[in-house]
Amino acid sequence: MSEEHNELAEPSTADSFENPGLGHHRPRLGDEDPRAAKRSERQVVALFTVSILATIGGIVGYFAFPVAEADAGNVRMSTLVLGLGLGLGMLGIGAAAVHWAKSLMNDHEKVEERHEQRGDDATRERAVEMLQEGVADSGIARRPVLKGALGTALALAPLSFVVPLVGNLGADWNVSKFRHTAWAGTPDGGPRYLATDPTDRRIKASDITRGSMVHVMPYRLPEEEHYLEEKAKAVVIVIRVDPSILKEPEERRGWSYDGIVAYSKVCTHVGCPVALYEQQTHHVLCPCHQSTFDITDQAKVVFGPAKRPLPQLPIAVDDEGYLYAQQDFDEPVGPSYWERER
Ligand code: FES
Repeated sequence: MSEEHNELAEPSTADSFENPGLGHHRPRLGDEDPRAAKRSERQVVALFTVSILATIGGIVGYFAFPVAEADAGNVRMSTLVLGLGLGLGMLGIGAAAVHWAKSLMNDHEKVEERHEQRGDDATRERAVEMLQEGVADSGIARRPVLKGALGTALALAPLSFVVPLVGNLGADWNVSKFRHTAWAGTPDGGPRYLATDPTDRRIKASDITRGSMVHVMPYRLPEEEHYLEEKAKAVVIVIRVDPSILKEPEERRGWSYDGIVAYSKVCTHVGCPVALYEQQTHHVLCPCHQSTFDITDQAKVVFGPAKRPLPQLPIAVDDEGYLYAQQDFDEPVGPSYWERER
């Protein structure tokens, strides 16, 4: 080793700097003490074990906290355990590999002269030999426990990706949660009136002037469990235009009242609230990514990344002139997913 170092320490032919050579080689503890090597091996196995347990824990957590059960706590816990399982699983393998390489693999320091990118056949054969030497140097053939730990960790780690993917094939992806909103009606079977937010005051058709846009909520939405989620799903914009410019297909006749139309305020791109109404063009704009919807034509997308029109809320007026929802939206509100029907 020392001869090799002296040779390497000779000045380089380049005049800009001298070859610094390699420093004095210091053997590692494990190179001289078999007990230290054994200890390092145990540490590497322990790190692989961390990876194995984390992967198993992530998968168990995935089944223990099913996100399909419409529970925000479950979604948070599922995300947490899957993330931890995945992170610790990968970290354990990485840390074990590094520790193994630094403490157990052969510590021969070698220097190779630079050569052309493509080696000749002899060099290539030598490369294969070196790879085989590397495998031999890793000592994997002599350390069956290490080999088993490595194999198990590598075999289990991809499950963190595969199990959620396979488990969710054909799953609902929470679309059912967006299929129904508070506009479906009140608990006693009565209609759900349109109300101002946050004052919760019912709105009359005469309150909506032509050219204006009003943000409304279901009247008297009970402040019980999932109140905020229900409120977020049910938020609606109401706009009044000249009735003669509305393009209403046969199946939507009667969904508007005297030029007043109501649409979900949740953008069908990724769910931002559409907020800007342009009176002249009758377009509403989502400020997040500029998706633009034509209110006179079933809120179809005229610009931007959204792929679906805003869902329309069928409305009507009672004897006193108050606006109410005839029924729930006829499709899930919110962003589009490839699982959706439209
Ligand atoms: S969320 Fe509305 S355009 Fe992206």
